[in-house]
Amino acid sequence: MATRQKSVKTGKKPKTGSEIQVPKGKLGVMIPGMGAVATTFVAGVEAVRKGFATPIGSLTQMGTIRLGRRTESRAPKVNEFVPLAGLNDLVFTGWDIFEDDMHAAASNAGVLERELLDQVKPFLSSIKPRKAVFDRNYVKRLDGPNVKKGKTKMDLAEQVRQDIRDFKKSSGASRLVTIWCGSTETFIEPGEAHQSVKAFEKALTQNDESVAPSMIYAYASLMEAVPFANGAPNLTVDIPAMHELSRRNEAPICGKDFKTGQTLIKTILAPGFKARLLGLSGWYSTNILGNRDGEVLDDPGSFKTKEESKLGVLEHILQPRLYPELYGKIFHKVRINYYPPRGDNKEGWDNIDIFGWLGYPMQIKVDFLCRDSILAAPIVLDLVLFLDLAQRTSELRDIGVQEWLSFYFKSPMTAPGLYPEHDLFIQLMKLKNTLRHLRGEELITHLGLEYYD
Ligand SMILES: NC(=O)c1ccc[n+]([C@@H]2O[C@H](COP(=O)([O-])OP(=O)(O)OC[C@H]3O[C@@H](n4cnc5c(N)ncnc54)[C@H](O)[C@@H]3O)[C@@H](O)[C@H]2O)c1
Repeated sequence: MATRQKSVKTGKKPKTGSEIQVPKGKLGVMIPGMGAVATTFVAGVEAVRKGFATPIGSLTQMGTIRLGRRTESRAPKVNEFVPLAGLNDLVFTGWDIFEDDMHAAASNAGVLERELLDQVKPFLSSIKPRKAVFDRNYVKRLDGPNVKKGKTKMDLAEQVRQDIRDFKKSSGASRLVTIWCGSTETFIEPGEAHQSVKAFEKALTQNDESVAPSMIYAYASLMEAVPFANGAPNLTVDIPAMHELSRRNEAPICGKDFKTGQTLIKTILAPGFKARLLGLSGWYSTNILGNRDGEVLDDPGSFKTKEESKLGVLEHILQPRLYPELYGKIFHKVRINYYPPRGDNKEGWDNIDIFGWLGYPMQIKVDFLCRDSILAAPIVLDLVLFLDLAQRTSELRDIGVQEWLSFYFKSPMTAPGLYPEHDLFIQLMKLKNTLRHLRGEELITHLGLEYYD
């Protein structure tokens, strides 16, 4: 179990703020899947630490938070307002089915330039992948040699738990966080084995096929009281068994599927149409990408998992039941095509058919020449730091799902029965208001009448 540290009140108004433990010592970041996203994240953190890069896109590093009235001019940086681990305190490990260290994996991924990679080479080369829990039945387009062996899935979970304990010891980390940056697994629906910790453990010992490799890492992490974030659309921690384990062991969870690229743009544009009551008849999204993620998503099983994640967004933002004339008949299509020449630099096209006053149609075309992993890396950093904060915070550590982190996900996890909030701006308000609440500051409603008394 993670060691608990001395508690202090950090809120400005202690009577309403939460207890947040001070982040002492190192924070160990454990990453199943050392591919494009993971290596771009770790190389970037090291480049920032060495002072030759800026953490653009990271709310924890560059964001500010307004406090009190507009007339007060109080807007501290997020990382000065809540006690987050510093970048110099981060240490890393990972698992992968390939034997490449992080430098070789980053070179293969082809996201970052050789010059930058050379500057962080000694550090990246020192991070070597542990043997992975892997099964081709869940990711059909991949196979690799660096894989654990075990009679049952429970044996494999025990081996991952041992890895976690070994890393904690060898790195000297006082706290740990796991973030899944592994491939998208084939589509799985929640079933019997996922309903409770007891049923899940039975399934582990019986090699039940409804237990995917990502769930084995998640189970091992939560058993070791380590928070877990899910960057892929896989089911992983979005099942009652993991919610239960997360609450029981005070290891917060969040997911699913990093919100980058096309879906990021969709959740920026759609709230705008809805705000101005512009109708929508169709949204056709297509992508070409040529990285390993694209290759994995070329398999129909993995694509289905991704498609479900991408399609839910519009329905939740536009609320067709409340606005049947505007959003009752939307044709929404999402395509991903594997096209190797593009590598990680994908191109996403959107054709959006909207209509306005008296039903007159208009079209919007978006062509996003996007760098997927460049958009994902700051999300990984923020999630690692915020999940660690959640575990140090009395009010958050035992609630399981951290819905306030929806901002970072395509398919935000929520408590059972709640619909997710997809609108990026509502998500940002939710995140910042959660931080204000934890520190005993007034929530910002943007009402503004108080200025006209
Ligand atoms: N890049 C983005 O913008 C973005 C956005 C949302 C979600 N994602 C998701 O993040 C994940 C990582 O993306 P990427 O571009 O880095 O992909 P990638 O293919 O470059 O990296 C994934 C790595 O995971 C490894 N892997 C697969 N199964 C594993 C297992 N069971 N254990 C350990 N390692 C395993 C693969 O060998 C590979 O090295 C994917 O699931 C992707 O769908 C990425």
